Amino acid sequence: MSVFRNWKRMTVTKNVLVALLMGMACGFMLAYVSLIPMGALKLNLNDAHYSSQLEYAEGPTYDPGVHNHEEEFHNMEDTSVADNLTRKVRVLCWVMTQPKNHQKKARHVKNTWGKRCNILLFMSTAEDESLPAIALSVKEERDFLWAKTKEAFKYIYKHYLDKADWFLKADDDTFVILENLRYMLKPYNTSDPIYFGCRFKQFVKQGYMSGGAGYVLSREAVKRFIEMGLHNATHCYRGDRGSEDVELGKCMEAVHVKAGDSRDSHGRGRFFPFVPEHHLIPGHVSKEFWYWKYIYYDSKEGMECCSDNAVSFHYVSPNQMYVLEYLIYHLRPYGITYHVTLSSSHPDGISLSDKDNKSTIAQNN
Ligand SMILES: *[C@@H]1O[C@H](CO)[C@@H](O)[C@H](O)[C@H]1NC(C)=O
Ligand SMILES: *[C@@H]1O[C@H](CO)[C@@H](O)[C@H](O)[C@H]1NC(C)=O
Ligand SMILES: *[C@@H]1O[C@H](CO)[C@@H](O)[C@H](O)[C@H]1NC(C)=O
Ligand SMILES: *[C@@H]1O[C@H](CO)[C@@H](O)[C@H](O)[C@H]1NC(C)=O
Repeated sequence: MSVFRNWKRMTVTKNVLVALLMGMACGFMLAYVSLIPMGALKLNLNDAHYSSQLEYAEGPTYDPGVHNHEEEFHNMEDTSVADNLTRKVRVLCWVMTQPKNHQKKARHVKNTWGKRCNILLFMSTAEDESLPAIALSVKEERDFLWAKTKEAFKYIYKHYLDKADWFLKADDDTFVILENLRYMLKPYNTSDPIYFGCRFKQFVKQGYMSGGAGYVLSREAVKRFIEMGLHNATHCYRGDRGSEDVELGKCMEAVHVKAGDSRDSHGRGRFFPFVPEHHLIPGHVSKEFWYWKYIYYDSKEGMECCSDNAVSFHYVSPNQMYVLEYLIYHLRPYGITYHVTLSSSHPDGISLSDKDNKSTIAQNN
């Protein structure tokens, strides 16, 4: 009898225990979910924050085509200043890609912004003459991006160093406005050791440039990277793994390549690690989001975020590349014309925009 009673009590205790544990687990989950900053959950498909969110994104199957330059509205355009800059500030663009993205992503870079580079190369692990993609001998893994970056710059140093003035690295989900990049670079001498991008302040004393927003090296910076950096283990990391952008940042600092200031005269940014929506909509991401701890300069949300001559945006899906292409190079509000006057630059490197006041320009000349 007493054995039976004891057994019953034991079952009750066991059930209570299981219920208690389940309750604790549920309670923990609820509390955990409610503690995640709301901003982090508000992210949507149009505004990716991780490359995995764009992994399966594909562009149009059929080529969206182009407008004829003889059309009335394109015929009214005066591109002579930009055309001159294309000759004076020659930019080689190299785009980090991989064989499975040649058709899905790289092709759409070539169809849109890539065609405005003086030289366009895709760095991959399989050759593809249509892009063209170069087969670097590295492992094709996200973990090996640093190795790939080193090999890409070695290749460029060997074959292209005198064929361009500036050397831009971008991803296959970066969108770049080449005209604004050339305008920003115009005051600088490519013989100076300097590089530009979206500057982050962690890990490296002078900061480093976010990989996704793209970064651009002067010819001297590429030379030092290869000649001093890669031939001396005390300067640049010899291993294959690690964050490509942080390692490059450490390496640039070690070989005395200056981290340049890419902001415009209003202090607005030009290189962006996310799509415009992320930066333009106040409160879109929580203040806890890592970006705020990383960004080097005080940066604002809303219209104040972004320069009128922004250079790059990241996590742009292949479809959105065509949307940006249309908005930037085609859609025009009728009756508004824009006269470009070439302006000078700030000694610290903050280029003055066209509407800047004359006193500032005169001071810096
Ligand atoms: C472009 O360059 C040419 C030749 O150097 C020059 O004659 C012309 O004035 C320039 N045009 C503009 C708009 O800067
Ligand atoms: C750029 O710098 C190099 C080396 O310091 C110098 O020889 C050259 O004249 C400079 N170019 C310009 C346009 O200032
Ligand atoms: C590597 O760099 C360090 C620091 O600048 C220098 O002392 C050393 O001589 C360099 N080694 C080689 C092989 O160039
Ligand atoms: C013009 O420049 C002066 C001197 O740098 C400055 O105080 C002023 O705010 C500027 N004005 C505008 C409209 O940017």
